[in-house]
This record gives sequence, C-alpha cells and structure tokens, in this order.
Amino acid sequence: MGGFSSEVAISMLSGNTVCKHLDTSKYTVYPISIIKEGWFCSHSDHKPFPVDKSDFSITIDGTKIKFDCVFNTIHGTPGEDGTFQAYLELLGIPQTACDYYEAALTFNKRDCISVLSAYGIKTATNYFLNKGDVINTSEIVAKVGLPCFVKANKAGSSFGVSKVYEEDALEAAIAISFKEDDEIIIESFLEGTEVSVGVINYYGKIQALPVTEIVSDNDFFDYEAKYAGKSQEITPARISDEQTSAVQREAEKVFKALKLKGLTRAEFIFHNGEPHFLEVNTTPGLSPASIIPQQAKVAGISLADLFDNVIEQALN
Ligand code: DAL
Ligand code: MG
Repeated sequence: MGGFSSEVAISMLSGNTVCKHLDTSKYTVYPISIIKEGWFCSHSDHKPFPVDKSDFSITIDGTKIKFDCVFNTIHGTPGEDGTFQAYLELLGIPQTACDYYEAALTFNKRDCISVLSAYGIKTATNYFLNKGDVINTSEIVAKVGLPCFVKANKAGSSFGVSKVYEEDALEAAIAISFKEDDEIIIESFLEGTEVSVGVINYYGKIQALPVTEIVSDNDFFDYEAKYAGKSQEITPARISDEQTSAVQREAEKVFKALKLKGLTRAEFIFHNGEPHFLEVNTTPGLSPASIIPQQAKVAGISLADLFDNVIEQALN
C-alpha cells in the first residue's frame, strides 16, 4: 500500500481493508507501505522497520522473510503504472494486479482508449497535450466541444480533473492537471448515466460484478464525491436488464482484451443508450467508501473469499 501519488491516503485505506479481511488461518500478512519517505513494514507490535529493496524482503528478530505473494493495493505510481509489477517480476515474486505492460497501458488513459477503440469499444472524443505544447484553446474546443473534461493522463481518484464550460477556463484547468502529470487528456462531455463495473476472475471465470450507478451531488464524480459522501452509489444500477448485461459484457471484453488480472473496475457512461468507456482501474480502491466492496456485498461474495481468489490467481 502507499505509493508516490496524491492517492496515497486512499491506498493506505485499501491496504488496511485487505489486511483486515485476509484469512489469517491461511496467510501470514505483513503490511508494507511504499511511500515517498521509504519502504516500511509494520508487523504486529514491531515499530515500522525498513524493507530490503534488493530482494523485497524483511528481517524480523534476525530471520529473513521472503514473500510468497504481494497483494498490490497501491493506486497510481508505482503500483498501478507497471513500475512495481516489473520490479517484482524481476525478483520472481507473484503479485495480484495485472502484469507490468498491461498496467502501464491501462494507467495511460490516452493509450488505453486508443487500444480499446480498435476493439470497437466506444469512447469520448479526446485531445492530448504534453507539457510544453502550445495550447490552442479554440482547436481544443473545435475537437471536443463544451463542456469538456480536462484530466491528468496518468492519475486516479479524480486528482487534477476539471469540468470546463467555457473556452476561457481551459488554460486554468490545464494548469491544474499538469500539477498531477506531464500529460493531459481533454475529453468531450458525454451526457448520460455513469456506471462503474468491477470485473474479477472468480474461481477461474472472468465475470462482472453487479453494476453501480454513480449519482454525484457535485458537478461530476470528483474526489469529494468519491470519498466524502458527496454522491450516491447505487448498486445495482437503475438501468434496464439489457443495459446491465451490455455494460457487464463490455467490461468483461475490456478485461479480456487487455489481459487483466486480479481485481479491476471500469467506468462507463451510457450515452445515446450505449456504454462508452471512460477508464479502467487495475488496483481499484478498497477503502470503506470504494465501489468494489459494495459490489462484492451485493453479489454475496465476502471480501475474504474475493481476496483469496485474487491470491490464488496470482500464484497460478
Ligand atoms: N483510483 C481509485 C483508487 C479507484 O479507482 O478506486
Ligand atoms: Mg481511476
């Protein structure tokens, strides 16, 4: 848990959920935080002590402990963008999220959208900017229209996201996004119902969880709406059975097309009656306010069982 991005606090909550629910008759759990200040293990009554970065091991009372599996609940960099995955792969330590290439791809909103478009998955129209590019606001508006969303290309939990209604407000929104990432994606606003769909590999079968409808009290599903109760998250979503099935199949298609693993959650908007893909999270939030725990509950799947499945998959 942890990470180097603005999502660190959410990741700590996610990690704590995993530690709390893992079946301790089956697993010995060592909570490890990878944060800007260092890599630490906080096991039972020991004060947090450092992790050996050369082999991702810890030493307790003179005994070196190497891990059989890492349950990856880091959101953002380095746990959701492939960096940590590549490091663990080199060390030969299995981890629960998708592999490094798929993580890097999915964490890059532009590249993920571009690959999924080739599979016929519908997305919003977008415009891309690198730091230092000339910002031509009339060209942006001509392409994506107004209102539009300005997003950091590689970030999560809505950090660096603004909804923009006027061309004059674009530059300020772009500056906010550039604080989170050196790449920006600007997307057209899709009017419609927003839904979120967890997809898991449960006892060997790739399957979508019940669909959650997002109704934000704020102008969009921003950080406050996500984590400070400023939204209603309704599971199952108030959409028709056909729409539910359509978006679940679309989310499973994303999972399979991108060769994902472990827990994932994709966001869609029903625009003109059809699901349009927004993004997929490959280390989705597991905080008490997060969506996967809500969906698992409605599906009748306990978190202990869900997490057990994820570990079994990582080990096989
Ligand atoms: N990026 C946040 C943690 C999520 O997808 O739940
Ligand atoms: Mg996200």
